[in-house]
Amino acid sequence: MNSANDLYQTLKNTPTSTRHYTLDDCLKLWPTIQKIQALKQEKNAIILAHSYVHADIVSTVADYVGDSLELSRMAQATQADTIVFSAVRFMAETAKLLNPQKTVLIPSPINGCSLADSITADEVAQLRREYPTSAFVCYINTSAAVKAQCDICVTSSNVYDIVAALPNDDIFFLPDQLMGKNIQAVMAERGVEKTIRTSTGTCYVHEEYTPDMIDYVRDKHPEVMILAHPECHPEITQKCDFVGSTSQMLARVKGTQAPQYFLLTECGLANRLSLERPDKQFIGTCTLCRYMKSNTLDQIVTALTNPKPYQQVTIDPETQAKATACIQRMLDA
Ligand code: 13P
Ligand code: SF4
Repeated sequence: MNSANDLYQTLKNTPTSTRHYTLDDCLKLWPTIQKIQALKQEKNAIILAHSYVHADIVSTVADYVGDSLELSRMAQATQADTIVFSAVRFMAETAKLLNPQKTVLIPSPINGCSLADSITADEVAQLRREYPTSAFVCYINTSAAVKAQCDICVTSSNVYDIVAALPNDDIFFLPDQLMGKNIQAVMAERGVEKTIRTSTGTCYVHEEYTPDMIDYVRDKHPEVMILAHPECHPEITQKCDFVGSTSQMLARVKGTQAPQYFLLTECGLANRLSLERPDKQFIGTCTLCRYMKSNTLDQIVTALTNPKPYQQVTIDPETQAKATACIQRMLDA
């Protein structure tokens, strides 16, 4: 990509569900994109972006775009001195846990997550006292302090296999109660006998979907392929053709020939696929994550030039040691 016009050719087909890019917009964005490319060289920095962030980051300055597990592995493998994590805080914290000696920056001040914010480390410590024989399994959508209280971490791409393979019969899964219910359903389907307790968090983006949306879309488009994220209600996931992480959904769409696709997840995934695979048709609704969508190119410039205190990810040594062990058990599984 060498000019504002190239940028426009890349972004002009972005679905209007999130942001519409005109040539004028691209002329304004282009100098900032060039500045970020130069700063990355100067600082030996890499930009990791989740698929949910805006296309003007995903399709331009991002060195790697993926789901939580892929981004964690990329954070572990990089030789860069600085990692800019264009996503949400728990993901940037994961990068810091895996790279304590590197500078990790999070561009946006609005970097929470309704799941990660639903439980504290003190609450997990209390639950551990109440359920002393349970293995504590945390979703990656948790703070480093919560991970430090847990035995093993999982992501949406490995949750079922890791839970099934654990030797423990009694599991406390946190913080996503809907993913917890999906785990219970999948373990029952696989004939794996475990007691699965959950806490009460939900993703405010994925809990919006209702089964009647699926019925409506299937009625209108009988050959549609419907894919859902495991943060959706079990009533949704049981009606879908495929359930998986954002990158697993992306791979499934790229690898199949359906007349239409309905993705029950944040709008960024259908946006990304619409640009990468204009031959595919996406129908139905999608929902927006205000935290992911708050990342901007200007914030990345600030992070790489004169980072604000909230942009610098730091973790105390005790939390660092315990939370890293929790993540490393997942990466080694
Ligand atoms: P993935 O790991 O599937 O990308 O999920 C992250 C997330 O926050 C989904 O809401
Ligand atoms: Fe958190 Fe939901 Fe946003 Fe994912 S989509 S970052 S789970 S609030």
